[in-house]
Amino acid sequence: MAREKKATLLIKNIGQLITMEGPTPRLRSDMDNLGLIENGGLAVSGEEILAVGTSDEIEGKVPLAQGCTVIDAGGAVVTPGLIDAHTHPVFAKTREREFEMRAQGKSYMEIAESGGGIRSSVRDLRAADREQLKKRTRGCLNRMLAHGTTTIEAKSGYGLSTEAEIKSLKVIRDLNLEHPIELVPTFLGAHEVPDEYRDNREEYIRIVIEEMIPQVVEKGLAEYCDIFCEEGVFNVDESRRIMQAALDAGLRLRFHADELGSSGGAELAASMQAVTVDHIVYVSEAGIKALAKTGTVAVLLPGTTFSLGGKKYAPARDMIDAGVTVALSTDCNPGSSYTESLGIVVSLAVLQMKMTAAEAISAITVNAACAVERADTIGQLTPGFQADIVIWDMQNYRELPYHYGVNLVTNVIKKGKVVV
Ligand code: NIG
Ligand code: FE
Repeated sequence: MAREKKATLLIKNIGQLITMEGPTPRLRSDMDNLGLIENGGLAVSGEEILAVGTSDEIEGKVPLAQGCTVIDAGGAVVTPGLIDAHTHPVFAKTREREFEMRAQGKSYMEIAESGGGIRSSVRDLRAADREQLKKRTRGCLNRMLAHGTTTIEAKSGYGLSTEAEIKSLKVIRDLNLEHPIELVPTFLGAHEVPDEYRDNREEYIRIVIEEMIPQVVEKGLAEYCDIFCEEGVFNVDESRRIMQAALDAGLRLRFHADELGSSGGAELAASMQAVTVDHIVYVSEAGIKALAKTGTVAVLLPGTTFSLGGKKYAPARDMIDAGVTVALSTDCNPGSSYTESLGIVVSLAVLQMKMTAAEAISAITVNAACAVERADTIGQLTPGFQADIVIWDMQNYRELPYHYGVNLVTNVIKKGKVVV
């Protein structure tokens, strides 16, 4: 504990303080290690965690600044702020009709091929101005924050023209400045081939490579480049070309891959040293081995499988056993997974992917921090880390998957400030 610093916020009487202190990333059986302190206390100084320990170690021991806020957690669970490492929050309109069509038996790809899906969101986004987009996206961020999420990765990808992709990334940039949630921006111009290039996909790929990527980099609007690498969208060869251009331009890589079928996307992502590869429901054995070797984070999205009415979930157990870094995210988007709740994702991970509650919590905190390359500042309640904290209305962390479909968050603290 730094002696000269005083606490500006003190949380006492914490039944289970989940610090996540420990190995980063959490691999294999270490995923069950929550750095848990029973009867804990936590002190914050300014924007940083000052001290964590048992109540006895913190209360009356840490010097309090004048006007220090004291919260009595009443024996509740406290965790790090949650990190949602895969979201598509910038869109103009919801697509509830498609959800119902899928429930009635139409497939995601059938709807896409008939002009619905991503392409319909593209038409809507192009027609909306930046203020309209900000308004709708802000609503999404407010719901995320209320559900305990304090950092998200946020993608463009419903513009699919240079102008509309830049408009989307500017929405992300603006909201990052005004909203308590931190947004990590990703350029997803290769999300789909837009209507006007359906007969000339090569020309669209050229525009992504020669116009969009250079402009996005020049304007400093994205840290990552992502792609929908899937049969019927961008195949492995096209994906390699686009992602190599992004890498050469200085962006780091994330992939949507092996979501609806196995196409070698995980192997490609690993071979290109991607930071993450996401979905991977149909990942091959070779793909799993490759990810374990390169340390590419597997971001699993069970909410998408659920909302698409799928029967097959990503093989989380095989990946964990093989030593892959596993994170979990919402994939929040208007098509395949419309939720802001990481809580429901944890329920699905436990029930459908046979993860333990502790593994799932590791996957939305410390491993999700790895997925946005911020594991040295967020994802843990360790002295010196950013004070992003959630207080929950539960006495035991195992209630998080068990008590499903309701929001158990009572308070959210972002950079030391109580924001919920
Ligand atoms: O991650 N798979 C590709 N992209 C999104 C879905 C986008 C949409 O349907 O609007 C996803 O599932
Ligand atoms: Fe996605």
